[in-house]
Amino acid sequence: MTAVKEPSAADFLTHRACRQIHSFRRFPRAFANSLPLMLLLVNGVTGVLLAQPSEGLQRGQTIYREHCMDCHGTTGKGDGPKAPFLSPRPGNLISAATSTKTDKELLRTIAQGKPRTAMPGWKDALPDEDQQAVLRYLRSLIQFSGSPAVSPPPP
Ligand code: HEC
Repeated sequence: MTAVKEPSAADFLTHRACRQIHSFRRFPRAFANSLPLMLLLVNGVTGVLLAQPSEGLQRGQTIYREHCMDCHGTTGKGDGPKAPFLSPRPGNLISAATSTKTDKELLRTIAQGKPRTAMPGWKDALPDEDQQAVLRYLRSLIQFSGSPAVSPPPP
């Protein structure tokens, strides 16, 4: 006959300790299981955040096309239809020289114009929000579009 050992307090303690370890172990797994869902949520939120500015750019684009494009050109490169008749020529707004200027500097030029050039001041013609909207649009033209200007040679 084998004696059945009653579980001692020590056994009970270790068992509890084990259970605790197990439940700790379970935690990361639960976390890992919900990770795809969390990524999906994060993606969704970033998607919304990324989608917002492009809607905001609509206004800036309309203003740009109406008031700026004749001189600065469709893509901001300074090659609008009026450009050949101006001295100095409208510069390239997507150049490093312009794009490294701060918002404050560019907004000042947009509001007050540029002395001794054809660049008019817009403070009386456009409300502040519109000047900011057109600057946001300029910044969007500067941004790297992701498509290479020259396609790679065929293999
Ligand atoms: C009549 C032509 C003309 C029109 C219209 C015009 N610009 Fe200009 N713009 C110029 C010229 C010329 C300059 C001076 C050369 C340069 O810096 O590009 C200039 C300069 C600028 C600069 C300063 C660039 C720098 O590096 O300092 C900004 C910004 C600018 N224009 C934005 C605009 C915006 C925005 C509009 C429309 C709301 C506009 N321009 C309309 C001709 C024009």
